[in-house]
Amino acid sequence: MRLWGLHPMRNGSHGVKTPLIDALLAFARLGHAELQKREIDLDELTRETMGDFQEETEKRGIAWIIHPLSLVWADPVLLRMALVNLMSNAVKFTGTRLHPKIEMGLFSGRPDETVMFIRDNGAGFDSTHAEKLFGIFQRMHTEAQFAGTGVGLANVQQIILRHGGRIWVESIPDGGATFYFSLPKLPENFPGASDESQAAMVGDECDSNP
Ligand SMILES: Nc1ncnc2c1ncn2[C@@H]1O[C@H](COP(=O)(O)OP(=O)(O)O)[C@@H](O)[C@H]1O
Ligand SMILES: [Mg+2]
Repeated sequence: MRLWGLHPMRNGSHGVKTPLIDALLAFARLGHAELQKREIDLDELTRETMGDFQEETEKRGIAWIIHPLSLVWADPVLLRMALVNLMSNAVKFTGTRLHPKIEMGLFSGRPDETVMFIRDNGAGFDSTHAEKLFGIFQRMHTEAQFAGTGVGLANVQQIILRHGGRIWVESIPDGGATFYFSLPKLPENFPGASDESQAAMVGDECDSNP
């Protein structure tokens, strides 16, 4: 992948990278990777990313519902990585469902942002203290329930914050989960803005507090 530019590395005596090491390397690099933002068709990116889960989708009969999405201004490699992480969680945590369903669409947020949601009908969790989940190694399920490393959402948050967006989740135990993330709107949606304020609006240093 363009961003990491890693050479194959060895891990202990096995001679292969583990998913955990991969995820941690990604996390370490995300903080200072240069963003290469451009206009992205979120519809296209979402449908293309769904292809990564085709085998599981067919095997388990996962129903994907994709509502109309929009254009966004983001780094395509990083945004794809965020989507892969959120989609893979939705796929994983619906693993015990007979009729797994994953829905993605836009949510009306503030006028200066585009908010996307991804909702599943999976295991869910008590989201009272859910902001912790976006920290590294934070999990709501045991390894025996659902395998994982607890790095994926930390990466997603890092990506969204780097774009000047915000991320949050709503969930109840056994009631599925809905993740939301926002991205600042395209600069051309603000025709009155000066070049400088546009740069600030889409830059890395935007206020990311919800
Ligand atoms: N769609 C979801 N449904 C239920 N729980 C979720 C979902 N996404 C994330 N979680 C919870 O958040 C934790 C952290 O997610 P993540 O960082 O992706 O780690 P991992 O997938 O490796 O467990 C998960 O272990 C799980 O407890
Ligand atoms: Mg995950």
